[in-house]
Amino acid sequence: MVGFPSSSTPEIATQGPSGRVIAESMSQELVAAIQQHINLELEASMTYLSMSIWCAERELTGFHKFFSEESVEERGHAIQFSDYLIARAQCNDLQPLQAPCQIWAKLEDLLYNAFRLEADTTSSIQHLYSISDRENDIRTTVFLDPILERQIASEDQYAYLYGRTKFACNDPTALLVIDGEVRSGQTSR
Ligand SMILES: [Fe+2]
Repeated sequence: MVGFPSSSTPEIATQGPSGRVIAESMSQELVAAIQQHINLELEASMTYLSMSIWCAERELTGFHKFFSEESVEERGHAIQFSDYLIARAQCNDLQPLQAPCQIWAKLEDLLYNAFRLEADTTSSIQHLYSISDRENDIRTTVFLDPILERQIASEDQYAYLYGRTKFACNDPTALLVIDGEVRSGQTSR
């Protein structure tokens, strides 16, 4: 009869800071950087909500829908990073959010701000990547790979939308055409 040896004693599982079992520890520098990044994603979600409101108030229904969806997506990114910390038995550390900008002179300025926000988010993910690479934390680099690729595509999308609105020179007819394109889902090259 085959069975488990009765004399074997299970090893004591190592716990992470959250109290969950942990397979591999994480550097505190990387944990703190991910915690900060979660706040950045949440602030991006708030900013895009603010942008969606600004667009709705000016009957730019395409951009209103676009930024509403972007706001939800950014919150989803925050949750994705938060879930990753949970999976690695690390603690989350949510911080108060800064009030988002709510006033823009024109749509072109709003889209430039959105592009800069995406570029800052890319820099933050690249920072996480460089720490995990230095720490030889393969789990984290594998986790970040598709996120970084998606983020770079997002930057390209915002560069396109900013370029279109910049070209329109704040002409209402041109802006309504672009808004119609965005409403129909044409938001990238
Ligand atoms: Fe994001």
